[in-house]
Amino acid sequence: MGTDELREGLENVVVAETRLSRIDGEAGELLIGGYPLEELAPNATFEETAFLLRNDRLPTADELDEFRERLASLRSIPDAALDAVRAAAEDESESAMDALRIGAASLSLARDDEDPEADSLLLVAAFPTIVAAYWRVRSGGEPVDPRPDLSHAANYLYMLTGEEPSEAEVRGLETYLNAVVDHGLNASTFTARTIASTESDLVSAITGAVGALKGPLHGGAPGPVLETLLDVHESGDAESYLRQQLDAGERLMGFGHRVYRVRDPRAAVLSDAAERFYAADSSGDEAFFETALETEEAAVDLLAEYKPGRDLETNVEFYTAVLLHGVGVPRELFSATFGVARVGGWTAHCLEQLEDNRLIRPRSSYVGATGREWTPIEARE
Ligand code: COA
Repeated sequence: MGTDELREGLENVVVAETRLSRIDGEAGELLIGGYPLEELAPNATFEETAFLLRNDRLPTADELDEFRERLASLRSIPDAALDAVRAAAEDESESAMDALRIGAASLSLARDDEDPEADSLLLVAAFPTIVAAYWRVRSGGEPVDPRPDLSHAANYLYMLTGEEPSEAEVRGLETYLNAVVDHGLNASTFTARTIASTESDLVSAITGAVGALKGPLHGGAPGPVLETLLDVHESGDAESYLRQQLDAGERLMGFGHRVYRVRDPRAAVLSDAAERFYAADSSGDEAFFETALETEEAAVDLLAEYKPGRDLETNVEFYTAVLLHGVGVPRELFSATFGVARVGGWTAHCLEQLEDNRLIRPRSSYVGATGREWTPIEARE
């Protein structure tokens, strides 16, 4: 029997065992499939990371080729799914996350049977196609067909722009996708595992996870971070811009975290990746990266001044904005691109849940009325 002790937001409640990622919020360390993030993210292809999460080891060269081919063969989405995504893109009020939810739900049309393993690959493979199709139609063009000869990350950028991306752009995006592929039992991953635990199918579980990710408390900060950076880049004065925000009682986007009390390890990995990208790519604006560094420094100092003792440090979203902007992902797609990465973790969590499944079913503490007596409608006031 449980107790009636209320754990609001399920904070610190452990409800699953996982070998996919381990977060140490005090030390600022993140392991993905046992590897320190800073080793895995800049070196692995996204396909290698997705394989690692499914198989608990890195693939051999032959296994990687086979896995890559399998994923590449699943990139096209059914016409009816494409029509639904197109309808979302043509409706101004539907965001990229709405389109991703609609597209994800329609992927059951692409399969004959429900099979967790096959569904998990289909979802990972098709997410970039959905987001890119939305973007092409939203910006007045036509969807670009996926190219099976390109890597997962390269093909995503290709479908967004219709042009083959540079190596630096692909490496930058791939580092991002690896860095955010999994992060313990966050709200969307918990949602996916809860749905999987009912032995529903993976398309349903992942559609629910997209719904959870859409909320601004989960995946919504990089857009506002980019706005700040573009404004500061123009004005050249980070400190007074940020001070104004704090004086107006606003939060500085890209800082603070529920779990980390030190700089988010993903921020370090993404900052290094952004630095390399802006130095290497001829289209990258090194001065913009300098603005980001100055803004981060000013923000951390100001947060220590305004919120002493709160340990507010840089989180993943700050350098997500810097890196994704650099590699050419439009601001409107930042959250959906997070989904393109995180679906690798969500699907692996669902498979892990099913290995030794037990229905996730917590309790609530009843605080409503008791002892009421039925009143016929004519007698109610
Ligand atoms: N800017 C200014 N103040 C901040 C802040 C920020 N980014 N983040 C937290 N604070 C302040 C709060 O106002 C609060 O101060 P108070 O006690 O004087 O009222 C204190 O720090 C603790 O905040 P709280 O909301 O309890 O922390 P949390 O652990 O629940 O919040 C976040 C975590 C991520 C929601 C929060 O840090 C935030 O809103 N950050 C900005 C949005 C963002 O970058 N989100 C992406 C997260 S990956």
